[in-house]
Amino acid sequence: MSRFLFPKWSNLLLPGLIAAGAVMPLYAVFFVAYGFSPKTLDAGYQPVQPVPFSHALHAGQLGMDCRYCHNTVEDASHAAVPPTQTCMNCHTQIRPESPKLVEVQESYRTGKPIEWIRIHKLGDYSYFNHAAHVNRGVGCVSCHGRIDQMEVVYQSQPLSMGWCLDCHRNPEPHLRPVSEVTNMAYQPEFELTDTEREGLLAKYDIHPSENCSTCHR
Ligand code: HEC
Ligand code: HEC
Ligand code: HEC
Ligand code: HEC
Ligand code: HEC
Repeated sequence: MSRFLFPKWSNLLLPGLIAAGAVMPLYAVFFVAYGFSPKTLDAGYQPVQPVPFSHALHAGQLGMDCRYCHNTVEDASHAAVPPTQTCMNCHTQIRPESPKLVEVQESYRTGKPIEWIRIHKLGDYSYFNHAAHVNRGVGCVSCHGRIDQMEVVYQSQPLSMGWCLDCHRNPEPHLRPVSEVTNMAYQPEFELTDTEREGLLAKYDIHPSENCSTCHR
């Protein structure tokens, strides 16, 4: 997968281009095309996690609110993944002997955090802020897809600059009341009229920035 510096096909191209003496321009092109980060952002990226934790079960069937576990989204730029203690609020009682929870019990005993594999990650040169979006009526689903239906989380959106700017230039169709930001089934295009969405734009005083320094600082 292209989570390395260069995508696979570039391995095939590189030797030929190096031979052709095109090394410098080629690197320049790659750094621009793939960012300066050691990976590109792949929609569809879905690593196997150390614990078979299911959002479809917890957030879907059990109906738990995202903020029960991701409790910093409204206050901080990062949407931290929950500590083991959060799981143990229930799993000291619920299926404590389950083989699927061995790693969780182990982490609880030793105090060593579970090593969840990060899925959504921008390059170090880009800045993102959850609170700025969640408190302005941009729902989790707009950027993460139907997490409440995922057995294993995957990246559903490209998270590229063009994708960010598409919404920053025209946020109105994506807006919902702040009370609905974690409601994954809520669809602004059906629930709200154009006038109501314009109302939200004014109410939350929304003017998303297109300045480079907003996202690269
Ligand atoms: C019971 C706790 C819990 C609840 C409730 C929960 N999550 Fe999670 N979430 C986790 C854990 C643990 C992980 C890390 C493991 C994984 O990726 O499945 C995670 C991972 C994620 C990720 C991927 C993070 C990354 O590495 O990029 C996203 C996005 C996410 N959750 C969104 C949501 C949304 C949206 C909701 C509500 C619909 C939600 N979560 C509800 C515990 C929870
Ligand atoms: C609000 C209570 C609650 C919290 C908090 C919670 N779970 Fe669960 N979890 C459940 C319930 C209920 C089940 C379903 C049990 C069953 O099927 O009998 C379950 C099932 C599971 C299973 C499958 C167990 C099996 O044997 O099939 C795993 C794995 C799991 N949870 C991991 C986690 C992790 C990791 C966290 C913390 C990020 C977490 N849970 C937080 C209530 C919770
Ligand atoms: C406007 C788009 C957007 C919205 C809305 C959004 N996220 Fe994210 N989320 C991202 C991006 C981009 C990243 C990667 C951030 C980074 O690498 O700095 C991310 C990362 C995450 C992560 C990984 C941990 C971390 O460091 O942040 C979790 C968990 C997460 N989001 C959960 C949520 C939840 C829950 C909601 C809704 C309450 C939500 N997100 C709303 C875009 C969004
Ligand atoms: C709304 C947020 C946002 C704004 C505004 C923005 N960028 Fe970006 N930019 C991004 C994201 C997200 C990426 C891809 C991040 C990654 O791959 O980690 C990116 C990537 C880049 C890259 C790497 C090459 C690429 O296309 O992937 C360059 C160079 C760049 N931006 C320059 C700029 C300049 C110059 C401006 C101002 C004209 C600007 N950006 C404004 C979010 C933004
Ligand atoms: C679905 C719509 C949407 C998407 C996608 C989106 N944004 Fe935003 N963004 C907004 C809105 C709405 C605001 C709030 C603007 C305001 O308060 O005036 C905002 C605000 C921000 C802010 C806060 C600016 C400040 O004044 O502090 C940053 C930083 C930002 N976005 C970065 C990003 C980056 C980086 C991405 C892509 C990875 C992204 N956004 C994708 C809608 C979006």
